[in-house]
Amino acid sequence: MSVELIDLSKSYRDAEHSREVLCGVNATIADNEFLAIRGRSGSGKTTLLNLIAGLDTPDSGIVRIDGLSLQKMSENEKAAYRRENIGFIFQFFNLLPTLKIIENVSLPAELAKVRQDEAEARARSLLESVGLADRANDYPDKLSGGEQQRVAIARALIQSPKIILADEPTGNLDSVMGAQVMELLIEMSRARRHILVLVTHSHQIASKADRVLMIKDCLLVDDPGLEGQLSDDPP
Ligand SMILES: Nc1ncnc2c1ncn2[C@@H]1O[C@H](COP(=O)(O)OP(=O)(O)OP(=O)(O)O)[C@@H](O)[C@H]1O
Ligand SMILES: [Mg+2]
Repeated sequence: MSVELIDLSKSYRDAEHSREVLCGVNATIADNEFLAIRGRSGSGKTTLLNLIAGLDTPDSGIVRIDGLSLQKMSENEKAAYRRENIGFIFQFFNLLPTLKIIENVSLPAELAKVRQDEAEARARSLLESVGLADRANDYPDKLSGGEQQRVAIARALIQSPKIILADEPTGNLDSVMGAQVMELLIEMSRARRHILVLVTHSHQIASKADRVLMIKDCLLVDDPGLEGQLSDDPP
């Protein structure tokens, strides 16, 4: 499995302004690679993950997965591609408030028509791995931010997707909890040989990646590392 980003451009327009977010992004993500993406707030990190997931469309350019262009797929084909290949961990968790934790985690498997007892067994085992076995029957609003993020990780992994896209929560988690949760994600995706594309503000987390890229002036460039410390980095 490989992911190719070819000349991706994306702008947002309203009546008065056009904001160029990505202006010709190129990159190839290799099988099993752990790629970290940094960049200041508003630089386009979430936009880029959404393009890779096929949740958003570029103005121009191509996202190619194993040689297949997302831009040539219908919405249904893209939905199937996402179901089979992508585990998305959203910046704001996106757990469904009316479903119990176990139901949130097993939902992607149920949508993929996995038998309910099998889906639930997988969900229980993942909840165990993220240290939340005893919270299976709680609703999301009973959980702390870090716990919700761990549920989101379990949900993203339940179908063993080849590509995990993770948008690091920023405001919601303190940095120690955030780092622990991200390390758990990194360990789990290495063990399962997923591609991991992780948006992070942390140098410490980025230093564990195979490669670190940065979105700067609407392009994806090599990360300059600590010398290029961003002004909005935590101290
Ligand atoms: N649907 C939209 N309509 C208009 N502008 C948008 C939309 N989505 C994103 N933007 C703008 O595009 C830019 C990039 O947004 P994006 O969410 O990708 O940034 P980010 O790097 O993920 O930031 P953060 O670190 O704060 O999450 C921002 O200036 C944002 O305001
Ligand atoms: Mg974002």
